[in-house]
Amino acid sequence: MSLAYQDAWLTVLQGDARDELARIPDASIDAVVTSPPYWQQRSYLPADSPLKDREIGREPTFDGWLATMVAICGELRRVLRPEGSLWLVLGDKYVAYGGQRTGKSAGKRGYAHRVPAVRPGLGGFPAGLRRKSLILAPYRLAIALEEDGWILRDRVVWEKTNALPESVGDRLSVRDEVVLRFTLSGRATFDLASIRDPYSAAAVARVQPHRALTFSGRKHEAPGQPPRTPRAPLMGGTKGAAAGVTRLSEKPWNLRAGKNPGNVWRIATAARPGNDYAHFAMFPPELVRRPILATCPRGGVVLDPFAGTGTVGEVANSLLRRAILIELDPASVESIRIRCQARPIVEVPA
Ligand SMILES: C[S@@+](CC[C@H](N)C(=O)[O-])C[C@H]1O[C@@H](n2cnc3c(N)ncnc32)[C@H](O)[C@@H]1O
Repeated sequence: MSLAYQDAWLTVLQGDARDELARIPDASIDAVVTSPPYWQQRSYLPADSPLKDREIGREPTFDGWLATMVAICGELRRVLRPEGSLWLVLGDKYVAYGGQRTGKSAGKRGYAHRVPAVRPGLGGFPAGLRRKSLILAPYRLAIALEEDGWILRDRVVWEKTNALPESVGDRLSVRDEVVLRFTLSGRATFDLASIRDPYSAAAVARVQPHRALTFSGRKHEAPGQPPRTPRAPLMGGTKGAAAGVTRLSEKPWNLRAGKNPGNVWRIATAARPGNDYAHFAMFPPELVRRPILATCPRGGVVLDPFAGTGTVGEVANSLLRRAILIELDPASVESIRIRCQARPIVEVPA
C-alpha cells in the first residue's frame, strides 16, 4: 500500500504483508523475526476499518489460517538468504464454544475493538477435535511448514514470568508461548557466541579448571585429578566415527565463553499497562534480542512482516542491524513512527 517511513536503518511498509512482501528483493533478508496474528485470538483493526478484511487471524477456519500462513512463509522463503532463519512466536488455543464478547470492554473507545470480532463455534476448529482440546496450533503450523520444505531447527519455550491468571478450574493455566526457528538449509547462520549466558558463580566453582578445558566427550576425570589420557584433537568424519569419537562442535563446559542459553526463556511480557503503545501483543525486547543477534550478522537486515509497534525494528537497530517492518494497522504504524523518533542516531555500519 505505501512506504510509511524510511531512513538508513529502518523501512516501514504499511499494508497487507501478502502485498508488501512482493516489494522486497529475493534473498535480501538475513532473518525474519515475527509474531503473526494467531487464529481467532484477537482483532487489531477497528471494526469499521476498510482494511478489516485483509486482517490475518480472522479466517473462518483454522485450516484457512494455516494455508494463509504457509503461503506467506513461502514468500518469506523467497526473500530470505539461503543461510537465513525464520523465527515465529506462536500461541495456542483450546476448542471452545464461542459467542460475541459482551463484557464491559465491548463498547469502549480506543483499543476496545481489540477483542475478538469473530469467535468460532465448534465449526472452524481442526477436524476431529473435541471441545476443550488444545489445538496445538504452533505444531500444526510447524508440520505444514516442514512438509513445505522448511527445517524446524529450534523450539523455544517462552515462559511468561508475569502471565495473567486464567479463570479455569479444570486445567492448568497457560504460561507459555513457543518460538520456532525454521531454516532453509542445515548450514544456516547461528552465532552462538553472541548469545551465550554467563555461568553462575556456583557452577564455575563446581567445575575443575582442567576438566572444563579438556573435556573431549570421554569419561570425566575425578575432581581434582589430572586427565587420565592425553587429549587428542577431536576427530570427525569417517575416521572419527570409526574410532568411536564424536566430533563435538560445542564443548559442554566452556567457562570463559559462557553457556548455551538453552531453549527455555523466562521473560516477562510487555503487557499493558506497562508498555506505552497500547498494543495487546507487543514483544518484550528481550524475546527478540537472541534471535536477532544469533541469526542476523551486524549490518544485516531483519524483517518483521507483522510488526505491530515495531519492537523488532527497535531492537534490531539498537544491535546495529537494519530492519524492514510491514504492518497493516495504521494506528500501529503511528506507534512505530513515535518509536523511531526516540531512537538514537547511530552511524550505519559499512
Ligand atoms: C501479534 S501482533 C505483532 C506485535 C508485535 N510483535 C509488537 O511487538 O508490537 C500481529 C500484528 O499483525 C498485524 N496484521 C494483521 N494482519 C496483517 C496483514 N495482513 N499484513 C500485515 N500485518 C497484519 C496486526 O495489525 C498486528 O499488529
